[in-house]
Amino acid sequence: MPLLEWSDSLSIHVHDVDAQHKGLVDMANRLHDGMMREESKAFLQDILAEMAQYAVEHFGTEERYMDAHGYPDSAAHKAEHQDFVVKVQAIAADCSSGRCALSMDILNYLCGWLVTHISDTDKALGAYLNGRGVR
Ligand SMILES: [Fe+2]
Ligand SMILES: [Fe+2]
Repeated sequence: MPLLEWSDSLSIHVHDVDAQHKGLVDMANRLHDGMMREESKAFLQDILAEMAQYAVEHFGTEERYMDAHGYPDSAAHKAEHQDFVVKVQAIAADCSSGRCALSMDILNYLCGWLVTHISDTDKALGAYLNGRGVR
Protein backbone atom coordinates (compact mmCIF):
# COMPACT_ATOMS: atom_id res chain seq x y z
CA MET A 1 0.00 0.00 0.00
CA PRO A 2 1.47 3.38 -0.93
CA LEU A 3 2.30 5.73 1.90
CA LEU A 4 1.30 8.78 -0.13
CA GLU A 5 -1.45 8.88 -2.70
CA TRP A 6 -1.29 11.42 -5.52
CA SER A 7 -4.57 13.21 -6.00
CA ASP A 8 -5.76 16.29 -7.85
CA SER A 9 -5.90 18.07 -4.50
CA LEU A 10 -2.08 18.20 -4.71
CA SER A 11 -2.07 19.69 -8.21
CA ILE A 12 -0.73 23.22 -8.50
CA HIS A 13 -1.98 23.36 -12.12
CA VAL A 14 1.43 23.83 -13.69
CA HIS A 15 2.07 20.77 -15.82
CA ASP A 16 5.79 20.13 -15.45
CA VAL A 17 5.81 20.98 -11.74
CA ASP A 18 2.92 18.54 -11.15
CA ALA A 19 4.81 15.84 -13.07
CA GLN A 20 7.86 16.36 -10.84
CA HIS A 21 5.73 16.30 -7.68
CA LYS A 22 4.30 12.95 -8.83
CA GLY A 23 7.88 11.75 -9.25
CA LEU A 24 8.73 12.78 -5.67
CA VAL A 25 5.60 11.08 -4.31
CA ASP A 26 6.57 7.96 -6.25
CA MET A 27 10.09 7.99 -4.74
CA ALA A 28 8.72 8.40 -1.20
CA ASN A 29 6.45 5.41 -1.86
CA ARG A 30 9.33 3.33 -3.25
CA LEU A 31 11.35 4.15 -0.14
CA HIS A 32 8.41 3.11 2.06
CA ASP A 33 7.83 -0.11 0.07
CA GLY A 34 11.52 -0.95 0.34
CA MET A 35 11.43 -0.43 4.09
CA MET A 36 8.34 -2.62 4.41
CA ARG A 37 10.05 -5.38 2.37
CA GLU A 38 13.12 -4.99 4.60
CA GLU A 39 15.39 -4.31 1.64
CA SER A 40 19.10 -3.82 2.25
CA LYS A 41 20.45 -0.55 3.57
CA ALA A 42 22.28 0.01 0.27
CA PHE A 43 19.02 -0.37 -1.67
CA LEU A 44 17.27 2.20 0.54
CA GLN A 45 20.23 4.58 0.48
CA ASP A 46 20.14 4.56 -3.33
CA ILE A 47 16.50 5.66 -3.35
CA LEU A 48 17.20 8.33 -0.72
CA ALA A 49 20.14 9.67 -2.73
CA GLU A 50 17.99 9.66 -5.88
CA MET A 51 15.28 11.54 -4.02
CA ALA A 52 17.73 14.15 -2.71
CA GLN A 53 19.09 14.68 -6.24
CA TYR A 54 15.63 14.85 -7.79
CA ALA A 55 14.48 17.34 -5.15
CA VAL A 56 17.37 19.67 -6.07
CA GLU A 57 16.45 19.46 -9.77
CA HIS A 58 12.78 20.00 -8.98
CA PHE A 59 13.47 23.04 -6.80
CA GLY A 60 15.55 24.41 -9.67
CA THR A 61 12.51 24.15 -11.97
CA GLU A 62 10.29 26.06 -9.53
CA GLU A 63 12.96 28.67 -8.86
CA ARG A 64 13.44 29.32 -12.59
CA TYR A 65 9.69 29.95 -12.83
CA MET A 66 9.89 32.33 -9.85
CA ASP A 67 12.78 34.26 -11.37
CA ALA A 68 11.28 34.37 -14.87
CA HIS A 69 7.95 35.73 -13.59
CA GLY A 70 9.13 38.04 -10.80
CA TYR A 71 7.46 36.01 -8.04
CA PRO A 72 7.22 38.32 -4.98
CA ASP A 73 7.54 35.54 -2.34
CA SER A 74 10.54 33.87 -3.93
CA ALA A 75 12.98 34.51 -1.06
CA ALA A 76 10.85 32.71 1.54
CA HIS A 77 9.99 29.91 -0.89
CA LYS A 78 13.64 29.37 -1.84
CA ALA A 79 14.59 29.34 1.87
CA GLU A 80 12.13 26.46 2.46
CA HIS A 81 13.75 24.56 -0.42
CA GLN A 82 17.21 25.18 1.00
CA ASP A 83 16.19 23.95 4.47
CA PHE A 84 14.83 20.73 2.97
CA VAL A 85 17.95 20.12 0.86
CA VAL A 86 20.18 20.56 3.91
CA LYS A 87 18.02 18.19 5.93
CA VAL A 88 17.76 15.47 3.25
CA GLN A 89 21.47 15.62 2.49
CA ALA A 90 22.20 15.26 6.22
CA ILE A 91 19.88 12.23 6.42
CA ALA A 92 21.49 10.70 3.31
CA ALA A 93 25.01 11.36 4.66
CA ASP A 94 24.13 9.89 8.07
CA CYS A 95 22.72 6.77 6.47
CA SER A 96 25.62 6.24 4.10
CA SER A 97 28.10 6.57 6.97
CA GLY A 98 26.14 3.93 8.90
CA ARG A 99 25.22 6.29 11.73
CA CYS A 100 21.49 5.81 11.34
CA ALA A 101 18.94 3.40 10.05
CA LEU A 102 16.14 4.80 7.94
CA SER A 103 13.16 4.96 10.22
CA MET A 104 9.46 5.68 9.88
CA ASP A 105 10.16 8.95 11.70
CA ILE A 106 12.46 10.01 8.88
CA LEU A 107 10.03 8.85 6.22
CA ASN A 108 7.18 10.66 7.95
CA TYR A 109 9.28 13.81 8.07
CA LEU A 110 10.03 13.60 4.32
CA CYS A 111 6.40 12.90 3.38
CA GLY A 112 5.00 15.48 5.79
CA TRP A 113 7.33 18.16 4.45
CA LEU A 114 6.44 17.31 0.84
CA VAL A 115 2.68 17.39 1.34
CA THR A 116 2.75 20.58 3.45
CA HIS A 117 5.12 22.38 1.08
CA ILE A 118 3.13 21.40 -2.02
CA SER A 119 -0.23 22.20 -0.40
CA ASP A 120 0.76 25.63 0.89
CA THR A 121 3.94 27.07 -0.60
CA ASP A 122 3.83 25.50 -4.08
CA LYS A 123 0.10 26.10 -4.51
CA ALA A 124 0.62 29.80 -3.86
CA LEU A 125 3.31 29.81 -6.57
CA GLY A 126 1.00 27.85 -8.90
CA ALA A 127 -1.82 30.36 -8.46
CA TYR A 128 0.57 33.23 -9.23
CA LEU A 129 1.92 31.48 -12.34
CA ASN A 130 -1.58 30.56 -13.52
CA GLY A 131 -2.45 34.25 -13.25
CA ARG A 132 0.40 34.94 -15.65
CA GLY A 133 -0.79 32.34 -18.11
CA VAL A 134 1.56 29.51 -17.09
CA ARG A 135 -0.14 26.11 -17.05
FE1 LIG B 1 7.58 21.61 -5.36
FE1 LIG C 1 8.53 24.60 -3.79
